[in-house]
Amino acid sequence: MEKVLMRNTDLRVSRLCAGCMGLGGGWEMEKALSGAEERQAREFVEAALELGINFFDHANIYAHGRAEAVFGKVLGQMPGLRDRIVLQSKVGIRWAGDPSGTPQRFDFSYENIVSATDAILKRLGVEYLDILLLHRPDVLYEPEEIARAFAVLKSAGKVRYFGVSNQGRAMVEHIQSLLPDPLVANQLQMSLLHHGFAESVISFNQASAGYPDGWEGLFEYSRMKGVSLQAWSPLDRGALSGGDQAKLSETARKTAVLVKRYADERGVPSEAIALAWLLRHPAGILPVLGTTRPDRLAACARSLEVTLSREEWYSLFEAARGRPMP
Ligand SMILES: NC(=O)c1ccc[n+]([C@@H]2O[C@H](COP(=O)([O-])OP(=O)(O)OC[C@H]3O[C@@H](n4cnc5c(N)ncnc54)[C@H](OP(=O)(O)O)[C@@H]3O)[C@@H](O)[C@H]2O)c1
Repeated sequence: MEKVLMRNTDLRVSRLCAGCMGLGGGWEMEKALSGAEERQAREFVEAALELGINFFDHANIYAHGRAEAVFGKVLGQMPGLRDRIVLQSKVGIRWAGDPSGTPQRFDFSYENIVSATDAILKRLGVEYLDILLLHRPDVLYEPEEIARAFAVLKSAGKVRYFGVSNQGRAMVEHIQSLLPDPLVANQLQMSLLHHGFAESVISFNQASAGYPDGWEGLFEYSRMKGVSLQAWSPLDRGALSGGDQAKLSETARKTAVLVKRYADERGVPSEAIALAWLLRHPAGILPVLGTTRPDRLAACARSLEVTLSREEWYSLFEAARGRPMP
């Protein structure tokens, strides 16, 4: 799989990233890692590498730390692997009960950013992360504290580059204004069924359009500044590619039919078309895949064989929005 130089970095990453949220045996709080989970993680990593995927996305909360812990075991079993991959993780979400008696909250404090990152490195058994993202906006954030935490982590050699997730333009710019180095990524929910980033562009100046909040200027800013746009839930959890159709809206069902038609015409799986819709965007959107299954990873990789025409792209967009362009 082609590797591209990530702007604002010296990292060469595959056009698809392997998300690790599904590793470690789910969201149960107290649970030991089993042999089955270790085997699943090893097979997942091997399948990704086999396809040429060298970019792995974590967060400290996935499976309450077990996703990173089991990935750390795989790294331990495969000498030299750490140097061949790009490792990204996230901090900033804290579960209720961490520590005992506290509510679920967001925490971009200096102490939490630094201590949560130290815990990630320990679980993964690595000396550094390539990229650390701030996971979900903390209302009480202080950009000076974030900048201090990033500086300490960088000078200690624990994190090479920093980014954010789920943040709008104003907050990104505010945090960036205090940093000596450019932010390198913003990870956002983007897919055919979650298309606010595209809707905001075509609906501007359309009084009755129900203009979606939050996206205005974010893509343009990110493209100008070299902030990589990463798409989480790029497959809408299988909604358009063979997953459970029962809860889908009529619009989503019709979109799935068009996705399948384009897939059949090209002889590729539906996953390839749903992802190709994101890949066709000139911003270089980087899908963060959520599957843990080697066969689905392979289906996703076929998206790189597909270049949608402008007409196909807009037909899919029109189907997903359920009405013609303004
Ligand atoms: N920054 C954030 O706030 C944020 C939030 C959520 C996720 N993420 C990241 O983004 C990654 C992807 O997110 P996601 O998991 O929501 O993405 P996704 O790729 O849209 O969905 C993957 C999930 O859907 C299931 N799935 C896929 N195709 C299916 C099908 N045809 N039938 C049934 N089930 C199907 C997968 O199960 P199988 O494993 O069985 O294939 C997996 O659980 C995560 O791993 C994580 O790294 C980030």
